[in-house]
Amino acid sequence: MANSGLNGVTAGSSGVSTVGKAGVGLTYRGYSITDLAAESTFEEVAYLLIYGKLPSHAQLDAYKNKLAGLRSLPYQLKTLLEHMPQSAHPMDVLRTGTSLLGTIEAEGEDGRTAASVGDRLTASFGSMLAYWYRFHSRNERIETDSDEDTVAGHFLNLMSGMASDPLKRDALDKTLILYAEHEFNASTFSARVITSTLADTYSAVTGAIGALRGPLHGGANEAAMELVSSFDSPQDAEKSVMHMLKARRLIMGFGHRVYKNGDPRSPIVKDLARQLSDAANNTSFYDISDRIEAVMFREKGMFPNLDFYAATAYHLCGIPTAMFTPVFVIARTSGWIAHVLEQRGDNALIRPLSEYTGPGPRDYVAIDDRG
Ligand code: CMC
Repeated sequence: MANSGLNGVTAGSSGVSTVGKAGVGLTYRGYSITDLAAESTFEEVAYLLIYGKLPSHAQLDAYKNKLAGLRSLPYQLKTLLEHMPQSAHPMDVLRTGTSLLGTIEAEGEDGRTAASVGDRLTASFGSMLAYWYRFHSRNERIETDSDEDTVAGHFLNLMSGMASDPLKRDALDKTLILYAEHEFNASTFSARVITSTLADTYSAVTGAIGALRGPLHGGANEAAMELVSSFDSPQDAEKSVMHMLKARRLIMGFGHRVYKNGDPRSPIVKDLARQLSDAANNTSFYDISDRIEAVMFREKGMFPNLDFYAATAYHLCGIPTAMFTPVFVIARTSGWIAHVLEQRGDNALIRPLSEYTGPGPRDYVAIDDRG
């Protein structure tokens, strides 16, 4: 029987990140995620991933200016966003927006490279989301520029129409760092498979967004919010989670294919969720989450992954639940681009074999003789 879900299979080599490596943990290009989250900004990390090294002051300033100059949306894209239904999932909005942008600003034309496409998408995803959201929820056609100089601030500003709150902006910025890269996860691997066919970067990102959307991957942060917000109290949460476990149901935001003894990103995002809860004077979701964490450890020996406390943190940042996974896209685009570049640098078509389990050779049955 072939390995289920390629579990434990090394499917290639990469110099972008290490995930759960003994004695090292999660690193981006050799830098520990704990150091990056404590000391760095998302723009520095995106630069590190896409361009291969941490930027100097001058490089960072230039990069932030560059991203700020890439926030506008062409009129064709605005028209498309207006025609997409309000009921659409914003992941589908991003998937479709990426695909359209790839026809208007094609890679290879006007000097566009995988890196510059990555910068364009990283800078404009927040604009796409907010333009679609504000048009449908408030009947407004917004300008997609803002005075904010970070990706996190720009997104919060456009979504609310107000200057971003520093605590929320910094918390979002840190989660973008945590979400930016994670080795051969499903969406990144999808991007690499698409890239291996020599397809363009927009195709790789479009496919990666599709893979990220599912609740076993990026969609888990939305599912975790639905879970946490369905309980009235920690006691209620404990009782219900016990029932769910008995019924062998998944508790979203727990478990991981690689980390079996804890996700190093989780304590960082948990701390952010606590800070935001204290600032809001509302620890309800945090307390419920904390109890679920305790029950999952006691009953299953399982730890929360990044998505679990990200749900509470994003909720307290004022981000609508359906936008949680799209925010993950904004962050992960830099990781996807790093892998597109790496795949192209030493490409081989990714085309594995399957173990055949169908019927053996048999005689063809003419249509008149079929039952
Ligand atoms: N709740 C309850 N039981 C679980 C959970 C969970 N969240 N996750 C795994 N298990 C159980 C599972 O039922 C199985 O039990 P048994 O051996 O009795 O059948 C055992 O743990 C092993 O699970 P698995 O599905 O074989 O493990 P996997 O490595 O294939 O799956 C996973 C990893 C992330 C898909 C899975 O843990 C899961 O579905 N978690 C919930 C969704 C989630 O939080 N996804 C986010 C992943 S991390 C960030 C990201 O990628 O976005």
